[in-house]
Amino acid sequence: MNEIIIEPGSLDHIADKLPRAHAYAVITDSNVAKLYGERVAQQLPNAQLLEFPAGEANKNRETWAALSDEMLKRDFGRDCCVVAVGGGVTGDLAGFVAATYMRGVPVVQVPTSLLAMVDASIGGKVGVDTSAGKNLIGAFHHPALVVIDPNVLRTLPDAEMSSGLTEAVKHGAIADAEYLQWITDSVAAIFERRTYTLESLIRRSVEIKLAHTSEDPREQGKRAALNFGHTVAHALEQTCEYRISHGEAVALGMMTELEIGMGLGITDPGALSSIAAALSATRALLNRTISFGIEEVIAATHSDKKKRSGMVRYTLLRKVGEVAKSEAGEWTLPLPDDVVKDALTKSFKV
Ligand SMILES: NC(=O)c1ccc[n+]([C@@H]2O[C@H](COP(=O)([O-])OP(=O)(O)OC[C@H]3O[C@@H](n4cnc5c(N)ncnc54)[C@H](O)[C@@H]3O)[C@@H](O)[C@H]2O)c1
Ligand SMILES: [Zn+2]
Repeated sequence: MNEIIIEPGSLDHIADKLPRAHAYAVITDSNVAKLYGERVAQQLPNAQLLEFPAGEANKNRETWAALSDEMLKRDFGRDCCVVAVGGGVTGDLAGFVAATYMRGVPVVQVPTSLLAMVDASIGGKVGVDTSAGKNLIGAFHHPALVVIDPNVLRTLPDAEMSSGLTEAVKHGAIADAEYLQWITDSVAAIFERRTYTLESLIRRSVEIKLAHTSEDPREQGKRAALNFGHTVAHALEQTCEYRISHGEAVALGMMTELEIGMGLGITDPGALSSIAAALSATRALLNRTISFGIEEVIAATHSDKKKRSGMVRYTLLRKVGEVAKSEAGEWTLPLPDDVVKDALTKSFKV
């Protein structure tokens, strides 16, 4: 696995950390350009800033093509390095540009949102959305280096902090009960952007994400644990056409998948109260105003990429810190729609 630097202030000393390259293409979005993109580009020899309009709606093939064309126009060769400075949208998009530019050039990920720090920048998945769904076109392209400076979170809006925290709660839920409790107890310090607390949070989440991706780089087994809450979350996002945030969808998804597990006698009921406490502390469900149609949500679960032979597969917990495995040792379980319907009805009004 390549190097991951988690260091307050590292953004201002980035030149000595980066791999050598003839030129650097610093890709960033329109919000992060002024805040950090220019700051990074200024430190690097032969660097140029390439900016795209912020937002998930621009994580598409058109932006990928525009950025790639711009790099060609500016004469970037095979000996260049892409530096992605931004949230998960920037990381996925710039990573996909790097994966395909002249059959692949190195990418350095410099995540600036909490979600990108604890999740999107780790594991090597890059790609874009299409009208058929999110992340359907992409590649595995592991970063040459990840540079995380927790201080940049001072400018990140609180709602975006919540979104990243939901994934950290998921990490605790699947792998580390003590960490889940620590997050619940540390939320105030996290929202105050206390450097040491942020550093500890990012470090533990990165460790957990790495433990699940480095042993399973192409998603056959253990990586599926990271999908906890996500089968339902993706269905909810699709049903309301992405009018809820990913963090909110994952929070609701985890609650529903805990209900599923409890209904089947697989999940320890104590898991629900610990995870609900963590999610309420992280304010993940604060802004919920949308209601869902149960049949629509069930139909949407069937477009899940992880579906095999007709049944939708779910990651369930045995208890906090432990994922339930099937008798065959698989990390996901195929479930009939009725079981999911019951849980959806119980976990929130649909
Ligand atoms: N590749 C993976 O394994 C993986 C995993 C999880 C999520 N993702 C992807 O990540 C994306 C979501 O990432 P995200 O939540 O970071 O979204 P994002 O990149 O859109 O960032 C959220 C917002 O915060 C702004 N921002 C980022 N850093 C900032 C900072 N320090 N200060 C102020 N504003 C800042 C951005 O401009 C944007 O408006 C989705 O596209 C998702 O598919 C990928
Ligand atoms: Zn997620």
